[in-house]
Amino acid sequence: MTITRRNFVTQGSALLSAAGLKLPVWSALAKGNSKGASTAERPLLLGVDYYPDQTQERLWEEDARMIAEAGLTNVRVAEFAWSLMEPAEGKFDFAWLERAVKILHQHGIAVILGTPSAAPPPWLSEKYPEILLVNSQGMTVHPGGRRFTCPSNKMYRRLSLAIAGQMAKTFAQTPGVIGWQIDNEFTLQPFARCYCNSCREGFQEWARRKYGTLDALNQKWGAAFWSQIYTDWKQIPVPLPSNGEPNPGLALDYYRYQSYANASSAEEQGAMLRRECPQHLITTNSVGAPYDALNMRELFKNMDFVSQDNYPGFLQMYMGGESSAGSAGLLPAIGFDSMRCAKGGKPFLIMEEQAGKAGQSFFAPQPRPGELRLWAFQAVAHGAMGVNYFRWDSAKFGAEEYWHGLLNHDRSKSLGFDEIVQTVKDMKALGRDALESSYVAEAAVSLDTDSGWAIGLQPGNSKLSYTAQLMSWYGSVASAKTGVDLVRLDDDLTRYKAVFAPVQYVVTEKQAESIRGYVRSGGMFVAGFRLGVKDESSQIVDKPLPGLLRDVMGVTLNDYVPLYWGKPGVKFGAELPGPDGTTQLWADLLKPETAAVLARYTGEYEGEAAITVNHFGKGKAVYIGADLDTMSLARVLRTFLAMSGSNSLFGAPAGVEVTRRNAGGHNWIFVLNHSDKSEKVTLPGRFKSVLAGSALDGSLELKPYEIAVLQPS
Ligand code: GAL
Ligand code: ZN
Repeated sequence: MTITRRNFVTQGSALLSAAGLKLPVWSALAKGNSKGASTAERPLLLGVDYYPDQTQERLWEEDARMIAEAGLTNVRVAEFAWSLMEPAEGKFDFAWLERAVKILHQHGIAVILGTPSAAPPPWLSEKYPEILLVNSQGMTVHPGGRRFTCPSNKMYRRLSLAIAGQMAKTFAQTPGVIGWQIDNEFTLQPFARCYCNSCREGFQEWARRKYGTLDALNQKWGAAFWSQIYTDWKQIPVPLPSNGEPNPGLALDYYRYQSYANASSAEEQGAMLRRECPQHLITTNSVGAPYDALNMRELFKNMDFVSQDNYPGFLQMYMGGESSAGSAGLLPAIGFDSMRCAKGGKPFLIMEEQAGKAGQSFFAPQPRPGELRLWAFQAVAHGAMGVNYFRWDSAKFGAEEYWHGLLNHDRSKSLGFDEIVQTVKDMKALGRDALESSYVAEAAVSLDTDSGWAIGLQPGNSKLSYTAQLMSWYGSVASAKTGVDLVRLDDDLTRYKAVFAPVQYVVTEKQAESIRGYVRSGGMFVAGFRLGVKDESSQIVDKPLPGLLRDVMGVTLNDYVPLYWGKPGVKFGAELPGPDGTTQLWADLLKPETAAVLARYTGEYEGEAAITVNHFGKGKAVYIGADLDTMSLARVLRTFLAMSGSNSLFGAPAGVEVTRRNAGGHNWIFVLNHSDKSEKVTLPGRFKSVLAGSALDGSLELKPYEIAVLQPS
């Protein structure tokens, strides 16, 4: 199943009942691809998304003045203004935008321009109907909304590049313009992927480049099954409905191709912008895990930094407004952590931050006093370097009339206005060093698009979801408050005390080698059920499971069991003290080779090993074969994290998040109260509360939704 923006939050909700110093690496990793303005020349990006295209010109001056008075330093404009900028094919009109930019600049406001390819004008879709997206059921979507276009279509890409190129030429030297947002939220639409003829051709070309020969492709896809041997590249289909499940190898490759098609269309615009505007920064906006239709590393590879859109109230709405103390803030947190890690930990920008109550056809809940501030600071706590609020005013027309900006429809100040102004002021007071510092993570959770996509295509148990597993594992590990990165297993793992891998269904040779090295040199690797079942072509390995990782884990599987009714119990040994647990959707029955048993099944699989630990080299590899109930999982994962030597020094209750950032020997500790009650945190020593300017000795009291930034004193 494709994770759309709507269903990713609903899926996540079921799981949120779970729970409660490394050197900066991003600067080294990110070197080499940024020719944009150095951060010292760039203003702090504490801004707002602004729509002069939807605002009467007589109000622009007043808007610019008020934006500046509010302390905001930049705007993002024009990402949905194609029909005004190119009213007819090849006829460009940027005069209005030049006037708007000039006014903003006169008020000291820096401008990020959006290229407008997320919403083509009516003349374009009328003249070139082949640009329309075809969904996974073969239905052509209609113009009238946005993002209804195909990512592969050459004509659409040419026209997108043409308007972006004209913008770039026009604004390359314009005072005040500092950078670009390419397009808007790639694939974040109800139909994330396209299945049209252009995509089919694009896929065929992509497959030819990947496999070189049809023999290789037929072999990797296992095309002998159901008589699918291809004798011409043109025969290769896209996985549209075909009265039977698609070939899993082809389907996984199609997801990879769709991600590539989007990333490469961004890249086309990015390369042009680098040429035309070498001094400008380049980014695009997206959202992080568990949204999964795009490989974010691919998308952001050649951009200067990651931008993310953050609407926590919207997430709450899809969670039915509920969140237990321990789960509050978890959905935004995993999004931030995944987006930060999409570019090696480099600080990211919130390009759109919720500014009030929000919605398209209905409203998300009214943010409570303190929540807007908490939400924005949570982004900073997870590594953001700036926050742009969505949006300045509230539209009186169009599909987002209900999306409240800093100004209400009558241009009075919104309920959250003063809170936002104070938040921006405090972020400035915190300063560039803090905002551009590195996030500290002692633990890592594997975020593996291949495993996610492959499990989505073939869940094994109809209820099994990669997203759900990822969320519960992430939630359990995050509740330990020692910082989490979301990594790929072939990243450098040596800086983590423990690495967790839920349903790591696909394991590549390189990943297996990386894990082997990590554990051998002293790491703690904790994997869940369905480990190493498939290779990267989506073929099942021809070795006893867990395939390539058998030696590291020190076990093989006696059997694997999808569970539909009856929940086998789990009895924990002395190393994992705690009440008996239950197994939910899956049970891998483990046969220890060199590993020791830490828990066993009871009931139907009585006595079979459910959790094992293997001493391998200097480290430990843990196999959790049971899909544990949420409470047991949280307890067990945190026990392993503690065994690895990672323990939070801050005694914070479940609803209070604690994160750390550091730079050049300075540390900032963010303490965020997500609960609607006052909470007390015990501190390991004397601290200064940076924003309050007070000294703290041993404890900190936070009011509902209150945040504090601490430094050791
Ligand atoms: C984002 C999008 C914006 C606006 C906002 C509120 O997804 O980038 O253009 O639509 O949500 O819906
Ligand atoms: Zn297409």
